[in-house]
Amino acid sequence: MPSLNDIRSTYLDFFQRNGHRVVDSSPLVPRNDPTLMFANSGMVQFKNLFTGVETRDYTRATTAQKCVRAGGKHNDLDNVGYTARHHTFFEMLGNFSFGDYFKETAIPLAWELLTKEFGLNRDKLLVTVYHTDDEAAAIWKKVAGLSDDRIIRIATNDNFWMMGPTGPCGPCSEIFYDHGDKIWGGPPGSKDEDGDRFIEIWNNVFMQFEQFEDGSRRTLDAKSIDTGMGLERIGALLQGKHDNYDTDLMRSLIEASAHATSADPDGPGKVHHRVIADHLRSTSFLIADGVMPSNEGRGYVLRRIMRRAMRHAHMLGAQDPVMFRLVPALVRQMGAAYPELTRAQALIEETLKLEETKFRTTLDRGLRLLDDELAKIPEGSALPGEAAFKLYDTYGFPLDLTQDALREKGRAVDTQGFDAAMAEQKAKARAAWAGSGETKDAAIWFDLAEEHGPSEFLGYDTETAEGQVLALVQKGAAVKTAGQGDEVTIVVNQTPFYGESGGQVGDAGIIRTETGEAHVTDVKRTAGVFLHVATVTMGEIQAGQGATLVVDHDRRGAIRANHSATHLLNEALRRALGDHVAQRGSLNAPDRLRFDFSHTKALTPEEMARVETEVNGFIRQDGAVSTRIMTPDDARGLGAQALFGEKYGDEVRVVSMGTLEGTGKGTDGRTYSLELCGGTHVARLGEIGLMVVLGDSASSAGVRRIEALTGQAALDHLNAQGTRLAEVAGVLKAPVGEVVERVKALAEERRALANEVAQLRREIAMGGGAKGGPEAKEIGGVKFIAQAVTGVSGKDLPALVDALKTTVGSGAVLVVADTGGKAAVAAGVTADMVEKVSAVDLVRAAAGALGGKGGGGRPDMAQAGGADPAKAPEAIAAAEAVLAAL
Ligand code: ALA
Repeated sequence: MPSLNDIRSTYLDFFQRNGHRVVDSSPLVPRNDPTLMFANSGMVQFKNLFTGVETRDYTRATTAQKCVRAGGKHNDLDNVGYTARHHTFFEMLGNFSFGDYFKETAIPLAWELLTKEFGLNRDKLLVTVYHTDDEAAAIWKKVAGLSDDRIIRIATNDNFWMMGPTGPCGPCSEIFYDHGDKIWGGPPGSKDEDGDRFIEIWNNVFMQFEQFEDGSRRTLDAKSIDTGMGLERIGALLQGKHDNYDTDLMRSLIEASAHATSADPDGPGKVHHRVIADHLRSTSFLIADGVMPSNEGRGYVLRRIMRRAMRHAHMLGAQDPVMFRLVPALVRQMGAAYPELTRAQALIEETLKLEETKFRTTLDRGLRLLDDELAKIPEGSALPGEAAFKLYDTYGFPLDLTQDALREKGRAVDTQGFDAAMAEQKAKARAAWAGSGETKDAAIWFDLAEEHGPSEFLGYDTETAEGQVLALVQKGAAVKTAGQGDEVTIVVNQTPFYGESGGQVGDAGIIRTETGEAHVTDVKRTAGVFLHVATVTMGEIQAGQGATLVVDHDRRGAIRANHSATHLLNEALRRALGDHVAQRGSLNAPDRLRFDFSHTKALTPEEMARVETEVNGFIRQDGAVSTRIMTPDDARGLGAQALFGEKYGDEVRVVSMGTLEGTGKGTDGRTYSLELCGGTHVARLGEIGLMVVLGDSASSAGVRRIEALTGQAALDHLNAQGTRLAEVAGVLKAPVGEVVERVKALAEERRALANEVAQLRREIAMGGGAKGGPEAKEIGGVKFIAQAVTGVSGKDLPALVDALKTTVGSGAVLVVADTGGKAAVAAGVTADMVEKVSAVDLVRAAAGALGGKGGGGRPDMAQAGGADPAKAPEAIAAAEAVLAAL
């Protein structure tokens, strides 16, 4: 009996032998489609190949595609567990032709695979075609020899396949297996078609059209093929089972569930095991593809599936979290075909455990409330919407969980009442917000948030994605289009652009639609809505259009490196300086990082070097950066750094990096840095390249600020420093290694030369050191020497005065200097004469003659300035007059 893993390989091998490229499954979150919640069929990743927007180096492909149908157009959640063939997660086997072959080849290939490779009895097979598709009917007849009654024409949409509201589509032909008249049911198109006798096993779509939002269609240039065969269904058939849940793979999961809950897999809890097995697959694969439980969008679908499974585990009597214990069984079964599952195993287990632990605290009370509410209302009537809303709001029961719980009791929920209660709560939130003093301008963002829900951020996993333009806003008002040159804020349903927060700046990049292109320069967020601040650079952008969003890769890369380096820096500072170090602010821009932290003193060069060395050590260690979601309390329990006073939701993102030999943080006790953070980070620390600290300064009282560079910017900085040093060495004509000694020697030499120059100047001023020098005169009983000098500065004068005082022996001296356009004057009186005359009086008189004012000093030495050095003789005369008057 072939296992599901064997059947998958047989399918892919068959088409590979027939010229098809085996392509990996795309992630469950479509990167290339804004309208789809999850990949729901194999063709999703090839959408643009069908429409001709994109070409690749192959025109035939085959895949085993992960699919989730639990939201949007294809939603099977409600039926899972109760039927033989509904799943939230399944694998779709498919073969594709992109303008290569069409019906004439697709049908024979399908027939050969089913009857030869899989060995199905050809008499048990029958097919449907779209009622107008004579061509397909004729090919079936020729290739398979099917009689007319086994080629059934169907006029309904059952035989016209569409991916979603828009996109490639076309008529299809479905292949059915007849389980024989022991089982009730009629052929497709008959009134008993819903029975289980005739089971569809394969759908072949003849892609011919593209459908647009307004309902119009165009014929595709190239005719293509898209087929889809549910692995679980064909598996059941080939394993002789009637129920997908009886296949080997599903059975092993059911048994794991039975083992973990000690409840008979086929006993009264059978439905619960089936729900758990199915939901284990969808939740695990969604987490592996980057979806995290939340209260919005995809994250909420994940949460709904998880909680639904957890209620079923609870009904099996499980006292502790169960789902996470089943993950190893799933990885054993599917990890080889989908390595991403193995890689994410720890994350899946932790996320499931956390969600189940949290939900268990309210599940019991919620179920009790549900019973109480039911007891209040008449038998058989629907649960009031108010009660369902309370279960949702207070106990975390998604509406479909309540519905699922009631289904077993044959009861329904008043969903209108539920919606009304939800609307009322939103209105209250809005009223509270309106009173919170936010600016009026922000009202439009709140309206958008209310209308469309918050934007979904895809940028942890991708830098390119498609989104739908929900609104264009210019000057605070919504507009329908924005033309070339317009500055406009663009709101999309999902975006890879990071919106500024937590110190990390918003991304820049391009938003492109069919009709134009806009350059995004910044992204902000308000009320959960991402606001792409942009200028239209080409054509026009229209509200409602599909758009390709491309983040500036280099810029984002630099921001990422800076943000991760900031985390390392934070921890290195704490270790170097002490536990008082706490983050007070940060900036993670493309060109640099800035980190403010509580610390009172400047870092010593040694401390700084230690911090820088430690950070760079972890960069070279090149450890993986990991991200997990947990409650704030658990995160703090692990030792995560959180911003003091910051409000955190009931779940936080915890980023850990670096591995220690000694004791660190986290469950492993070896993690170096653990921080609550919503930002984007490098995958491995080596991507940072290196970090260079530029310096540390005081930011405000008790807060220091460090600025640093990473990666290319750090290298550029070091190179610039190196170039400068080389230039200096060039000027010094010395090797770089000797520059410091040479500069020290130069400074020393300069000091000595300066002294020597001053000395020489004085000597020159005093008459070139020639013997004799100026003559002393006797005036008013005082010996007096006066001299006019040039080429000295005011600060040289005291030395000159002292020298003259020595020459005069006993008396008074005066030096008048031309300091280069200005005058300076100094007077001196020997100690024995200060009783008789004051140097201050002499200098004042002289300064007056030089056009200066004042002058000051001591009786034995005084100085003043003047405006006109040509008046030196007058100045000397004025001093002589003072002496003459004694
Ligand atoms: N895309 C087609 C389907 O999902 C094959 O049925």
